[in-house]
Amino acid sequence: MDLEPMDRWTDRVPGPLLKDSTHARFSTRSGFERDEAARSYRQPPVPIAEMSSDVGPVASTRLDEVRLCLCEKLILQAHASGRPGCHNEVGRDVKQFRTQTPEKEPGSPSRPTKLPPNPVEYEKEVYQKGLQFARPPFTFQTGLWEPHAKERMSAESKGYVAGNAGTGETSLKNREAFARWSIVPRRLVKTKSLPDLSTKVLGQKFPFPIAVAPVGVQRIFNPQGEIASAAAAAKSMTPYIMSTASSTSIEEVAKANGDGVRWFQLYWPTNENNNITLSILSRAKKAGFSALFVTLDTYILGWRPSDMDNGYNPFLRSDQIGVAIGFTDPVFRKQFKQKYGVEIEDDMHTAAAEWTQTVFPSLSHGWEDLEFIKQHWDGPIILKGIQTVEDAQKCVEMGVQGIVVSNHGGRQVDGGVSSLGVLPRIVDAVGDKLDIFFDSGIRAGADIAKAMALGARMCLIGRPYVYGLALGGENGVGHVLNSLLGDMQLTLHLAGIPSADPAHLNRSVLEREDRL
Ligand SMILES: Cc1cc2nc3c(=O)[nH]c(=O)nc-3n(C[C@H](O)[C@H](O)[C@H](O)COP(=O)(O)O)c2cc1C
Repeated sequence: MDLEPMDRWTDRVPGPLLKDSTHARFSTRSGFERDEAARSYRQPPVPIAEMSSDVGPVASTRLDEVRLCLCEKLILQAHASGRPGCHNEVGRDVKQFRTQTPEKEPGSPSRPTKLPPNPVEYEKEVYQKGLQFARPPFTFQTGLWEPHAKERMSAESKGYVAGNAGTGETSLKNREAFARWSIVPRRLVKTKSLPDLSTKVLGQKFPFPIAVAPVGVQRIFNPQGEIASAAAAAKSMTPYIMSTASSTSIEEVAKANGDGVRWFQLYWPTNENNNITLSILSRAKKAGFSALFVTLDTYILGWRPSDMDNGYNPFLRSDQIGVAIGFTDPVFRKQFKQKYGVEIEDDMHTAAAEWTQTVFPSLSHGWEDLEFIKQHWDGPIILKGIQTVEDAQKCVEMGVQGIVVSNHGGRQVDGGVSSLGVLPRIVDAVGDKLDIFFDSGIRAGADIAKAMALGARMCLIGRPYVYGLALGGENGVGHVLNSLLGDMQLTLHLAGIPSADPAHLNRSVLEREDRL
């Protein structure tokens, strides 16, 4: 991975994104001081990818560096003489735990062609490197991703990602709902391999049951923004859902995602702007986005006190951060010129406001408007933001292929129901008629397992990967995705659940904690 060292890229963070001068000082310090920080797992001195290279382990102190040099020398000598060294041992273990190549579904695209990484390998790598006194650059404690990332972010970026609607009650309930369900482990379940995490959605088999949730304006968290997360998603073999509010163009994200699976999330302009909708859809299609997620809960941004306290709306700024898709759209550009008589570049402020109004028009569409989307999108359509049985049934009537049971992480409606809380009843009503995706509150492998056991077929990871992005760009996002999967795989394994298939991972593995 060609991630630039932290201390170089932080120099180029636009002014308001830097936390403060302390942050700048911290991020440019080097040597012993930085090693001290790395020891507490806080600042990544070297991307984790380097840990898995043949030589080049991470040093956490200078003494360790000396030991590592000696260790490297021994390993190299072992390699040269054909004797088994530490790395050969790692190799043997890795082979032992590899999952099988996923069978190709008839009619499915040729990807994934790569052997899916076995999530538990990630843990094994860390322990192996630990034998050589190396320490991982990012913490594995999922609850620390947010506070660690917050240390690196400006007040504006921090407020934007961690903020919620109103009092934050919905977000809190999202988390509390997970603790109401408990996994009941079974014993002496004879197993021949680690649990297979594959799942089937939209008529295709995927090696893992997670996707990267659509998140806008990612360059406010890391200058590499969507490029980093789209690349990390491809490497972790998880679908990347690109937001209409991205700070990078559709075409650039597609390039960064390479041969990964990518889906497009639409913030839906009003019918008066159907020509712009058509333009976005056709660009997405051309760029290889194979499914369309239409977000229904955000025709206007929620009442978000953390952003208001900072006077910060990332979309209204003329820094092109939240408006990249509009500014690169030929139809929007033409329309802007006709209306204002100037190019976007001549009045970025007005152009940003105009694009923001286009994709967050303040007023909602009606069900009947979906016909237009169905006519003009050749591929699966998934409606994001469903929280009731009635709406889920309406989605079935409309003939869409999937829904995301989501409350946008509690960022839109305060005092709302928890997303996990409403999942079972929605699954019971429509689970056999369309694919159910789930998000809002997933923070650990066990959370994914619970949502799947309650009937979701795939979970979207939101804030956790944004924190990974802030902490370490592509490597940080990869770390979060791989950690969640490794955690999930071991959780299933130790609970005697042989796979993520509904035949094994279903409500029978859960117990309501209040009934115990
Ligand atoms: C900073 C941020 C930006 C987001 N941007 C979008 C977006 O552009 N489009 C969208 O459909 N959802 C967006 N979401 C919502 C996520 O897709 C997802 O529903 C949510 O993050 C799930 O909640 P959780 O992160 O608390 O688990 C955003 C969420 C966050 C935190």
